[in-house]
Amino acid sequence: MKKLLYQFDTDPHPAVFDNVVAYDGGADHVTAYGGLTPANVGPLVDGAIFTRAPKDKKHTAIFVGGSNMAEGEALFKAVRKKFFAGFRVSVMLDSNGSNTTAAAGVAWLAHGRSLAGKRAVVLAGTGPVGQRAALLLAREGCRVAITSRRLERAQAAAQALASRFEVEAEPIEAPDDAARARAIEGAQIVFAAGAAGVQLLEESAWREQRSLELLADANATPALGIQGIEMMDKAKERHGKTVWGAIGFGALKIALHRACIARLFEQNDLELDAEAIYAIAKPMVAQA
Ligand SMILES: NC(=O)c1ccc[n+]([C@@H]2O[C@H](COP(=O)([O-])OP(=O)(O)OC[C@H]3O[C@@H](n4cnc5c(N)ncnc54)[C@H](OP(=O)(O)O)[C@@H]3O)[C@@H](O)[C@H]2O)c1
Repeated sequence: MKKLLYQFDTDPHPAVFDNVVAYDGGADHVTAYGGLTPANVGPLVDGAIFTRAPKDKKHTAIFVGGSNMAEGEALFKAVRKKFFAGFRVSVMLDSNGSNTTAAAGVAWLAHGRSLAGKRAVVLAGTGPVGQRAALLLAREGCRVAITSRRLERAQAAAQALASRFEVEAEPIEAPDDAARARAIEGAQIVFAAGAAGVQLLEESAWREQRSLELLADANATPALGIQGIEMMDKAKERHGKTVWGAIGFGALKIALHRACIARLFEQNDLELDAEAIYAIAKPMVAQA
């Protein structure tokens, strides 16, 4: 029986990236829909859950993506709300690679060490990747802060984390490099989650920061997010700190994304959001 993946995207054009990884993760056929909302997704979910016999439902799965985290979460919730009794298929949420990217980055940061009690600052943590990184760092026991160029955006992201996951994050307004340099004072961990091509921190801002131990930058598009970290850096020692660039932990991200797709077809009731994806990521670090 063919493994069918239905890619539900909240953006008008479904992400090619997610489509390719779906095939590489083991789907035999991927059908991608754009512009999906909780209001219009219902009939598509019905088509996925009512068609195959109970023992065959695991060969159908749903992937929710798109560039907006809140819209993705709402669509993910709407999809699951349609499920009842045995009428369900496995489903994964990964808006803009949020869960797989954050899980890969934080799994590397936590590999072989405890992060409990450390202060972690997620720079530009208002996007999908940053919000999920903040969540996972908090789950590792960090005291987490999120910066944004605008305080109300940092507050909104912190509020979203509190209401959805009951984790606390300190919102910090940091509109420029100097403010972000102040935001990381006293922190042990920096996770840069800014938009592609945007530098958030100058090398001089972190090089002499004695408290800093671990830095990761998710941005793979020059200008990179943290000056002085190369995109291929993978647990590289720089200025007495251990650092990762976007491609350095991106190999784990891709492997993780593929592994999650493969898992979807092993059962018909798997629900993959941040924490479940992180649980898959952690044992994969050693092989990455
Ligand atoms: N390594 C990997 O495998 C991998 C996988 C997926 C994504 N990524 C990368 O991960 C990063 C985060 O992804 P995302 O989708 O969460 O990002 P995003 O939503 O595009 O941007 C994140 C935040 O960056 C801030 N920002 C935007 N323009 C800025 C500017 N000119 N100056 C300062 N801050 C700015 C915004 O925060 P405020 O408006 O609140 O300030 C925004 O919420 C991106 O660089 C993406 O390319 C990497």
